[in-house]
Amino acid sequence: MNMNDDIAKIIVDRNEIQKTVKKLGERISEDYSGKDLLLVGVLKGAVVFMADLIREITIPLDMDFILVSSYGDSTESSGVVKILKDIDTNIKGRHVIIVEDLVDTGLTLTYLKKLLETRGPSTLSICTIFDKPARKKVEIDIKYKGIEIPDEFVVGYGLDYAGRYRNLPDLCSLKPEVYERR
Ligand code: IMP
Ligand code: MG
Repeated sequence: MNMNDDIAKIIVDRNEIQKTVKKLGERISEDYSGKDLLLVGVLKGAVVFMADLIREITIPLDMDFILVSSYGDSTESSGVVKILKDIDTNIKGRHVIIVEDLVDTGLTLTYLKKLLETRGPSTLSICTIFDKPARKKVEIDIKYKGIEIPDEFVVGYGLDYAGRYRNLPDLCSLKPEVYERR
């Protein structure tokens, strides 16, 4: 089985993604020059973006990861966020950026931001490669925002459906029959 057979449409192609990642990396390099920068990636979706982003940042940095569950295997936010693996790094006094694949309702990042803020970072901001503005349930300040996308379920570039399709290089929508298979 080839994953490409399940793709309905390319929503954002790999070239546009790479151009956007480069711009975000340049901005972060400028803004955090001379600062103790720590990137915290939200597993598992942000892994692909994180790998590309750090190579577009030209200043020293550390990285860590946090694993949260918000969706299970469904395509709708439950609003319930559970920390399945916490970061190992002490973030007190450090400049932290949370790196996310996609901000949808905003519930996950609102929770994460509150949690990390209690640990006393010097600054705490958010960087996401994709944003679905139409779906926001809470107001959330995204300092580094990549590409706004329509209100449609997407996969690829780290994003999954039921654990699959994260390795597609483009951001895609799936054919309806893919959802009917389960
Ligand atoms: P939020 O809490 O609603 O903002 O969504 C948090 C997470 O849900 C995102 O970081 C994604 O990992 C996942 N998610 C939201 N929309 C989609 C989608 O269209 N495809 C795949 N994952 C999604
Ligand atoms: Mg996900």
